[in-house]
Amino acid sequence: MNPTKTKTARNTPVFAFRAFALIVGAAVWAYGSIAAAQEKGEANQSTADKSRRVSEPRGLINYLGRRIASPMGYQHMDWLSRPERIQEENPQEMLDQLKLKDGMVVCDLGSGDGYHTLQMAPKVGPTGKVIAVDIQPQMLQELSRRMAANKIGNIDTILGDLWDPKLQAESIDLVLMVDVYHEFSHPVQMLSAIRKALKPTGRIALVEFRAEDPTVLIRPEHKMSKAQILKEYKANGFRVASEYDKLPWQHLMFMEKDDTK
Ligand SMILES: C[S@@+](CC[C@H](N)C(=O)[O-])C[C@H]1O[C@@H](n2cnc3c(N)ncnc32)[C@H](O)[C@@H]1O
Repeated sequence: MNPTKTKTARNTPVFAFRAFALIVGAAVWAYGSIAAAQEKGEANQSTADKSRRVSEPRGLINYLGRRIASPMGYQHMDWLSRPERIQEENPQEMLDQLKLKDGMVVCDLGSGDGYHTLQMAPKVGPTGKVIAVDIQPQMLQELSRRMAANKIGNIDTILGDLWDPKLQAESIDLVLMVDVYHEFSHPVQMLSAIRKALKPTGRIALVEFRAEDPTVLIRPEHKMSKAQILKEYKANGFRVASEYDKLPWQHLMFMEKDDTK
């Protein structure tokens, strides 16, 4: 008899049982640790979510009688370069009205993929700057790709929050908002932030599709009337500096800070 063999044969079930128990034990321990870690992670996440929710100002559905539109998703960014845009908006004429000069600091707020940003950059020259702000990183990524392709260097991009464009105080000569303001879920916070970011002589150039005109074929919540624009901007410390009424489908209104109130 081979003692080793005999011993081995006799102890096989015990060994197998111990090995099985060890594997099951390890699996239970591992599962327990993962579950505990997940639980902890979820707890941390929900704490983070809760504190974020507390610090985020609540967005609006309506503002001063106007239904706020949902932001245009980056998936539809091709729409911003549609060829009909030239006839419907005459972007060249709109840009001419901005009277951009060398050295100006201009913010394209709600820049999208940079349709206007890229045209403005050469107009402010190497001593000036265009700051493109958007809430969708995909829009800014496409803008950055175009900047590199066109070798344009005087553009900064900022990923803003719904309520905060993250601009420096008194740093901007002109804030351009084309087809954007009506999408702000936090119009009061955004206008307050813009007020702070504008230099004392700074202005807003506000471009919105005309709600008064039924031939402007844009969904109603993406259009604004002059009366509504005035109501909202006056309520937030702005007044009209000048207006340009000759764009095909849009209002172009220049706003300045009204410090008399
Ligand atoms: C209809 S697109 C217009 C883009 C660009 N101005 C143009 O004319 O081609 C509106 C853009 O505004 C952005 N937007 C909406 N709310 C915003 C906010 N609070 N701050 C910055 N961008 C915002 C959207 O992400 C979207 O890219």
